[in-house]
Amino acid sequence: MNTADLIARYDGRVPRYTSYPTAPHFHADLGTATYEQWLSSIPAAVDLSLYLHVPFCDRLCLYCGCNTSVVRRDGPRRAYAARLIAELEMVAARIGRRARVAHIHWGGGTPTTLPADCLLEIMGTIRRLFSVNADAEIAIEIDPTAVPADRLEALPGMGITRASLGVQDFDPAVQTAIARIQTFEATEHCARALRALQIPSLNLDLIYGLPHQTADSVTRTARQALALGADRVAVFGYAHVPWMKRHQKLIDEDALPNPVQRFDQRAAIDQVLVDEGGYLAVGLDHYARPGDAMARAADSQALHRSFQGYTTDPSPVLIGIGASAIGSLPQGYVQNITAVPAYLAAIDQGQLAIARGIALTEDDRVRRDVIEHIMCDLEVDLDAIAKAHGVDSAPLLAAACAIDRFQTDGLVQREGGRIVVQAAGRPFLRSVAAVFDAYLNQANGPARHAQAV
Ligand SMILES: C[S@@+](CC[C@H](N)C(=O)[O-])C[C@H]1O[C@@H](n2cnc3c(N)ncnc32)[C@H](O)[C@@H]1O
Ligand code: SF4
Repeated sequence: MNTADLIARYDGRVPRYTSYPTAPHFHADLGTATYEQWLSSIPAAVDLSLYLHVPFCDRLCLYCGCNTSVVRRDGPRRAYAARLIAELEMVAARIGRRARVAHIHWGGGTPTTLPADCLLEIMGTIRRLFSVNADAEIAIEIDPTAVPADRLEALPGMGITRASLGVQDFDPAVQTAIARIQTFEATEHCARALRALQIPSLNLDLIYGLPHQTADSVTRTARQALALGADRVAVFGYAHVPWMKRHQKLIDEDALPNPVQRFDQRAAIDQVLVDEGGYLAVGLDHYARPGDAMARAADSQALHRSFQGYTTDPSPVLIGIGASAIGSLPQGYVQNITAVPAYLAAIDQGQLAIARGIALTEDDRVRRDVIEHIMCDLEVDLDAIAKAHGVDSAPLLAAACAIDRFQTDGLVQREGGRIVVQAAGRPFLRSVAAVFDAYLNQANGPARHAQAV
């Protein structure tokens, strides 16, 4: 079957599976009281992960799908930082002890929009309230064009171990179309500064499927990215969801590549990173240098998937701090209020700011496990998962029959309950995982997703 036919068959609109059930299935019946119970029952043996969300940027890129807005004044930034500290204190009090923390991720938006003293004070608060492991991974997302020197200089004091730089594309025509002007030189300058500060690990984000991109143009961008020598590169397909992100309506849809062109762009970047750069492909959309912790985790089937995408973090407890932040606990998921004023007001009233969430059923846990294995390991043994959960494998095996058309098309191999995604199937990983999503085809399903490929 040719590429166009494969895409027509499998490029459905399916989730990215950064959680299961996915966020559109969270509901407002689950609120603060339940979250407080969940926090108070976190097992003492568990190392926690923290995610801090900063929903501010200096600029608004037209493609952006993140929860953020342009805030350039220090007043609101400081006010927000104070509420992050208050929320951390409330969470720590509910946990009831100085829990160990092994991973911290600062995301956004652009976390480095917060003043340097606020960033340091928040990290100080975390170290006071929690016992941060000496080898903890502490990552931060950075917009290379909007990071003042004092923010960069604060990173070592914060204990940052990995910086993630948004690049997307270096082609000036593409940058103009997405309102994100960022020269290679500015990005290289930022990467050099991070190295000089001895930040151990560097990640870059690229996007394909943007207006005016071609396989040739993304090849040039990928080669420039190689020159930056990152340890990891994330390669996202542009998620065009103008019904959710209204500023994306300003993107000229006539200039967007079609699904076959998107597929070719993805393949072109893959070829540069793997064949020329020596990176290993990890999961759906990541590349890591051999020897990097993510490459090792992928090799040993120890990779995980969380709201930040692929991670080496095995913790069953991720605490989300900040507006719209999502937490993942053994009992289920919770999400904070998205609107910043309402988030601030809730925290000021001394309340955790939960807007919605979902408690996991046994069936959710089993399917979540199956989906995570497919997304991370590109293979799964349904009988072994059913056994590990103490459930009958029959419903999973019944669902797996839908895999057979992928097998006919050479994308997966299935023998009974054992499913192995082939190299040709990697771009269609989300669609393979979706076979096990019990929520996807519900008649009243709330979600509309971006293209799978
Ligand atoms: C929170 S943002 C990055 C941090 C920083 N604000 C920056 O832009 O450099 C994380 C990444 O999400 C990706 N991203 C944002 N919107 C996207 C979209 N609509 N589709 C695909 N990827 C997207 C971009 O690659 C971006 O670098
Ligand atoms: S891509 Fe980064 S800088 Fe641009 S609007 Fe989104 S979060 Fe802000």
